[in-house]
Amino acid sequence: MRRIRILQVGDIHYPDWHFVASDVDAKDQKFSPAISENLRSSAFRAVLRKLRHLALSDSMHGVVFVGDFSSRGKSEFLEGAFRHFSLLCRGGGAASRTIPLLFVPGNHDVNRKDALELGKIEKFRMISQLAERFGWQPVPLDRPIAVSVGKTECPTEILLVNTSIGSWELQNLPGFLRDKLKTDDWSTPIDLGSPVPVDDGPAIPTAIVPPEKPKDLIDQYYSQLDTPYVSAPMLNSLMEHLLEAKQAFGVIVGHHNLLPQKTPRISPYAEMLNAGFVRTQLLSACKPILYLHGHIHQDPIEVVSDPRKLGSQVVSIAAPEIAGGFNELILFITDHDDLVGVRVIPYRSRPADGTLVEEEHCFIPASLNSRTALDSNAFALLSKLKQYRVDRDRDLLFWNELSDLFQPKLADNILEDTLVMLHSSQYIEIHGLSRSNKDWKIQVKGK
Ligand SMILES: [Fe+2]
Repeated sequence: MRRIRILQVGDIHYPDWHFVASDVDAKDQKFSPAISENLRSSAFRAVLRKLRHLALSDSMHGVVFVGDFSSRGKSEFLEGAFRHFSLLCRGGGAASRTIPLLFVPGNHDVNRKDALELGKIEKFRMISQLAERFGWQPVPLDRPIAVSVGKTECPTEILLVNTSIGSWELQNLPGFLRDKLKTDDWSTPIDLGSPVPVDDGPAIPTAIVPPEKPKDLIDQYYSQLDTPYVSAPMLNSLMEHLLEAKQAFGVIVGHHNLLPQKTPRISPYAEMLNAGFVRTQLLSACKPILYLHGHIHQDPIEVVSDPRKLGSQVVSIAAPEIAGGFNELILFITDHDDLVGVRVIPYRSRPADGTLVEEEHCFIPASLNSRTALDSNAFALLSKLKQYRVDRDRDLLFWNELSDLFQPKLADNILEDTLVMLHSSQYIEIHGLSRSNKDWKIQVKGK
C-alpha cells in the first residue's frame, strides 16, 4: 500500500489576512505597551511555520491551494501571493525542492475590470501566466487540468476544476442589476425590492435600526455576484477522466462548495448554481471521489452516496481560511490502485494563545468494494484475530498483542496496512486510528 500526502490550504485573501495577536491580561496600565507586544504571539505565524515545515518534508507530495488567493483580483496581490507561497513551500538555497504547487481560481481572484473587458475565460489569463512564471502547475481555465503527484512509476492524478468562470459575468445577472453595475454610480445600494409581507402570526416587534450606508459597494458585491458553477464543457471533460477504466477513484479540487454551507446565506447566488447536478454526475461514476474545496471559510467534512449505485461516494473536504489553519490529507492506495481511505489531519490555530494544534484525525473509508481487494494475508490475520478473541474472551486487542500473533513477525508497515484494509472493509474497528498504531485498540466485528 502506498500513501499520498498532500496539504490542502484554504482561502488566503492576500493581503487582507489577519495577524491576530494572542491575548495578554494587561491589568496594570502603567506598564509600557511594549511589554505586552513582546509577550504576544500570532497563531497565523504558527500556521505559516507549520505549512512551510510540512511542505519542505521529503514525504509530502503536493500542496493544493483551493482559491481566493487575493482580494478583488488585483494583479499585485495575486503576484504577491504566488511569490510568498512559492518561497514558503519550496524554501530557498539548499533546502529548495520542487514540490508540485496546485491552484484553482476563486471568485475573489477575478478582477472586475478584466471580467468586463476580457470575458469569462480570458479574465484568468493573468493568473495562468503568474502560475507559469512561478513554476506552479497549470491553472484550469475552461477544462480540467490533470496533475500527477507521487512517484512517477505509480502516480496519483489530481483534477483541478475552475468553478469561478461565472464570477463577475454581468450576463449572468438580472437586467436591473446588470444595468446598475455597468454604471460608475456606486453611491447608493441596489434596490432589490421591498420584502413581501408574510402572514405567519403576530408581528414580533423589532428595534428600528437606521439603514447603514455600505462603505464600499464594489467590495460588498464582489462576494455576492459570485455566480459559481461548473460549466458543461468542464463537467463533461471531468467525467471523461473519471470514467476511464484505469481510474479506480478520483481526487478533484475546486474553489466552491458542492454541498450547501452550514451558515444560512443571504445572497443573490448563495450556492453553486449546478451543485446538485455535478454531485449526481460524480455519484454516477460509482467510484470514491474526493472533492477538496474552500470558499466558505469553514471546514466541514461530508460524505454523500447513492445506495442504488454501488461504490458511489463523494467525500467533500473543506479547508478553513488560512488564518484558521489547513488540512493534511493522507490517501491510502493499494498496489492495485484502489483507494482504501483518506486520513484528514486538521491543523487549527488558537488565536487567543497564538498557537497551532494538531486536532483529532479523521479516517474516512473509501466506498470501494475493498472486501474483494483483501488478499490471503488479510484473511489469515482476520481469522487469527477471531481465534485470539475467543481464546482470551476479550473484545479489544492491542497492537503489541497483534504483532506477536504472527511468527515470524510481520513488518510493522505490513501489519498496519492490513489492519487499515480490514478496517476499511468493516471487518474490524480500529479505535484510536487517529493516533500512533501503538495506541490502537482493535475490535473484531461479527462472529
Ligand atoms: Fe470564495
